[in-house]
Amino acid sequence: MRKNAIIISMQSVLIVGASSGIGYACAKKFIVEGYEVLALSRTECVLAGVKNYLCDVSNESELDLTLNALLAENPRIRHFVYSAGFSMAAPLEKADPKDYRYLYEVNFFGFVHCLRRLIPALRHSSGSACVVSSVGALFPIPFDPYYVSSKAALNAFCAALQTELRPKGVRVLSVMPGGTRTDFTFKRKIYSNEKTGDYSVAVKTASEKLKEIEQQGASANKVAEEIYNKCAASSAFYLFAAGLKNKLACALIRFLPQPLLTMLTRAVFLSSPGPTER
Ligand SMILES: NC(=O)c1ccc[n+]([C@@H]2O[C@H](COP(=O)([O-])OP(=O)(O)OC[C@H]3O[C@@H](n4cnc5c(N)ncnc54)[C@H](OP(=O)(O)O)[C@@H]3O)[C@@H](O)[C@H]2O)c1
Repeated sequence: MRKNAIIISMQSVLIVGASSGIGYACAKKFIVEGYEVLALSRTECVLAGVKNYLCDVSNESELDLTLNALLAENPRIRHFVYSAGFSMAAPLEKADPKDYRYLYEVNFFGFVHCLRRLIPALRHSSGSACVVSSVGALFPIPFDPYYVSSKAALNAFCAALQTELRPKGVRVLSVMPGGTRTDFTFKRKIYSNEKTGDYSVAVKTASEKLKEIEQQGASANKVAEEIYNKCAASSAFYLFAAGLKNKLACALIRFLPQPLLTMLTRAVFLSSPGPTER
């Protein structure tokens, strides 16, 4: 008897930063939804069935070679999630340019570089690219201007690509989680007292507060659920805060007078409102 076999090939998602935290949770979610997961980071994503590509995204030539191999082996990619990230706490006056340049390589240029290479595949699949930004893009977190500016740059970059890539069938999205309970908190590069000098108490206080916000925040699984839903939907929106509390905070911040925002930030991160300068 002849059987009419229908062969449905699995769709692939590339997740950069799937070895831990939000990226790892995304890998789990996409697997449950029937996707083949391609994972790119410096260490392996240990989930069964994932294809690992080990690479440091801050090294452009290494990234290029890795993407060459990855795209040759997996030309059909439906979704791309970029979750690699790095953060630091250092006063501007004392920060080492090597550190903030590295931060921009990982948080911003890594995404730009991967997306450029993936556009042909995403055009072919009418797929989506989603970068994990942060609500920090809108909030003036003290001693982390490199991080918040890199996330604001990602948001602006994604917004500017709407007119360029939407007509080609590619959706470029930015999802902004708030504090999320991952090891990100413990990997932050916090400058020591010797390096921070008379900023040391403020750097320590602000870092402790940020740690508290992150470790009392959402689960990575919740954020991953939201990322998956945004990738799978066909909405014309492109910038999303993850979680109701963060959506409300992002809406509110647009209406706050700037001096009041500075005062509130001081109160939250440095435990003293301080004067509002004119
Ligand atoms: N956790 C939060 O509270 C929070 C809040 C808002 C936004 N976010 C954003 O969410 C994203 C994911 O953070 P997470 O909380 O899931 O942190 P995480 O657990 O530390 O995950 C970061 C991922 O990025 C990868 N990565 C870091 N540097 C890399 C490099 N040079 N080359 C290749 N891969 C690199 C890491 O893999 P390897 O170490 O194996 O390379 C890891 O898989 C970040 O962009 C972060 O800014 C986090």
